[in-house]
Amino acid sequence: MMKKLLLLTVVGLYTLTSHGQKKTVDQRVDSVLRLMTLEEKVGQMNQYNGPWAATGPLTNDDKLLDQIREGKVGSMLNATGVARTRELQQLALQSRLKIPLLFGQDVIHGYRTIFPIPLAEAASWDMDAIRQSARIAATEVSAAGVHWTFAPMVDIARDPRWGRVMEGAGEDPYLGSMIATARVKGFQGNGYGKTDAVMACAKHFAAYGAAVGGRDYNSVDMSLRQLHEVYLPPFKSAADAGVATFMNSFNDLNGIPATGNSYLQRDLLKGQWKFKGFVVSDWGSVGEMINHGFSKDNYEAAMQAANAGSDMDMESRSYIQHLVKLVKEGKVKMTVIDDAVRRILKKKFEMGLFDDPFRYCNEEREKAQWNNPAHLSAAREMAKKSIVLLKNNGVLPLAKNSGAPRTIALIGPFARAKSDNLGFWSYDWPDDSARIISVFEGVQRKTGPDTRLLYAKGCNVNDTSTAGFAEAIAAASQADIIILTVGEARDMTGEAKSRSSIRLPGVQEELAKAIIATGKPVVVLISAGRPLVFNHIADNAPAVVYTWWLGTQAGDAIADVLFGDYNPSGKLPMTFPLTEGQIPIYYNYYSTGRPATSDSDRFYRSAYTDLSLYPKYPFGFGKSYTTFEYSDIQLSKKTFSAKEKTDVTVTVKNTGNYDGEEVVQLYIRDITGSVVRPVKELKGFRKIWLAKGESKEVVFTLSVDDLRFYNDKLQYIYEPGDFVVYVGGNSREVKEAGFTLLK
Ligand code: NOJ
Repeated sequence: MMKKLLLLTVVGLYTLTSHGQKKTVDQRVDSVLRLMTLEEKVGQMNQYNGPWAATGPLTNDDKLLDQIREGKVGSMLNATGVARTRELQQLALQSRLKIPLLFGQDVIHGYRTIFPIPLAEAASWDMDAIRQSARIAATEVSAAGVHWTFAPMVDIARDPRWGRVMEGAGEDPYLGSMIATARVKGFQGNGYGKTDAVMACAKHFAAYGAAVGGRDYNSVDMSLRQLHEVYLPPFKSAADAGVATFMNSFNDLNGIPATGNSYLQRDLLKGQWKFKGFVVSDWGSVGEMINHGFSKDNYEAAMQAANAGSDMDMESRSYIQHLVKLVKEGKVKMTVIDDAVRRILKKKFEMGLFDDPFRYCNEEREKAQWNNPAHLSAAREMAKKSIVLLKNNGVLPLAKNSGAPRTIALIGPFARAKSDNLGFWSYDWPDDSARIISVFEGVQRKTGPDTRLLYAKGCNVNDTSTAGFAEAIAAASQADIIILTVGEARDMTGEAKSRSSIRLPGVQEELAKAIIATGKPVVVLISAGRPLVFNHIADNAPAVVYTWWLGTQAGDAIADVLFGDYNPSGKLPMTFPLTEGQIPIYYNYYSTGRPATSDSDRFYRSAYTDLSLYPKYPFGFGKSYTTFEYSDIQLSKKTFSAKEKTDVTVTVKNTGNYDGEEVVQLYIRDITGSVVRPVKELKGFRKIWLAKGESKEVVFTLSVDDLRFYNDKLQYIYEPGDFVVYVGGNSREVKEAGFTLLK
């Protein structure tokens, strides 16, 4: 009874002004802040991992639950499920001020229903579908008591050796920015605070994707111009879309660890960008500044991180151990603490947690979201759209009903795989084997009694044994059609999964050679979390389909594409290199004084003597079962002033035998600038559907805002002069036209 009374008193203080009017959120935050001791404030800045699951090295602490009761914990990660979060929230409500906990979780591409990995979704270039995928993830995880996802990852990645490419949207700042917005809006559902939405977190701030050599956690040294032009735009878009939180990153940037970097967190994010949410550190990244050689000890690390604008310490325990002392000793100002705590409390208020700390704890809702058929079908749609057809010599699509007996052999380590389809950063549920659809099952569901299916694994994903080859070749020789599945296992791309070789692991390439050598129609499916190098397959197999890791519905989605129920429309969000020696390779590079225009240029080349200039597959590439023809570009104005705009029009015609979708891409080039400009920059795209034989006019409007860039003083300006505009179905095969921006 006493406890209840105290709760009411404190909550009463939170909600009404002395005149009995309803307080604004800021007033409510202040009224709580006024009651807090320094220790309680520091507690809000402390985040612990749930004792049940770890995504990094766990520091030793068995007093976790006591600390929650004492108001020393503001947030927990990896505590999910209504029962568990309720239990922990109850402990928080035993603390003096009863400030509720925030529960955060890595929900990167789904929770109960696993969607394609983010890089695969990016290949759809379908913003509505991507937004919907995040919306569904939020619906599912918010029903499990969670308030906050550590997503989207919006790091631009130009190096496929880096394991975390799977988590982002690829190499392009424009596409990456559009996707950042779509994901934030999806997770936050147009305004978090509703019980089916979660707070999003733009990570990893900043430039984590530029780690030297693609080695995870590595240093980053780059010009501020490059930072602003390439790496920051998706973060800015996330901020503009109202993302609730940011996470800083493990890397140092130009010598200062991101966690202790006040240029990034104070000057830019909270200063110029006016970001009102809070910044959480990455796991242990406050304490890791000691290893960077930037902080002497945890005391100094806590001081540097807090002063630089890191509001919450994820698991390094530096804040909880040292911040009180640091304030008392005058090393961290009380205003720094108050600002951080205000930001954190504000989110708790906006999430409605002060009004009802258990509003996300509803067993019925949790149960209802557990098996939601609409989510499964959305996951299948998303998976179909994420698939990229790289090659097709007419083998695809396969007929569903052959009309005569036929044999299809499914070969390779992924033909019957289940959990590998989920990819990294996904959850394993006890009923996964029934829920996840394998390729074999997908094919089985499409084909009738005329079709006999054979299966042979051939080899494991990553060992040296060729013992299964004979069986695979025997199955292949009996088959009319072969579906060969190769790729990376689920844990080969992801955090701390950088690879120096991005070839197919183990003996898979040899298996592929043997199967292709049978001369039969072979369709190769490649499942992976990153661009791989697979030249023998690319050059010799009749058909190659890049399936990434597609999630719970992988097998059905793949079968939809193989059997023509869906005409593939995915386009690569990253350049695929010819070999690792070309890395880093990306389409929007700067020209040089000796630019190469073809592989036969002997001197005018900024490439290697032993390699082609060109990647294996360019950014934006992806085929369809049909073909598209682009008309020449029409410009409404070939010269225009800064106050005017020009329309860029092309007509796209479906010239093949199937209805289909095309991603029409627009790039520009600023021919001369006060700083050098990329040879191409994506500035727009449209995904259009065209019936067989149909033509559509696609109109893009260009204004000076599309022509802006950062000059050497970091001003975001446009400069009059000559430009080229390109439109096409990938970054290489384009139509072009010139225009002039007048003074
Ligand atoms: C480390 C990862 O870098 C980050 O992305 C993730 O959100 C945290 N661990 C929490 O699991």
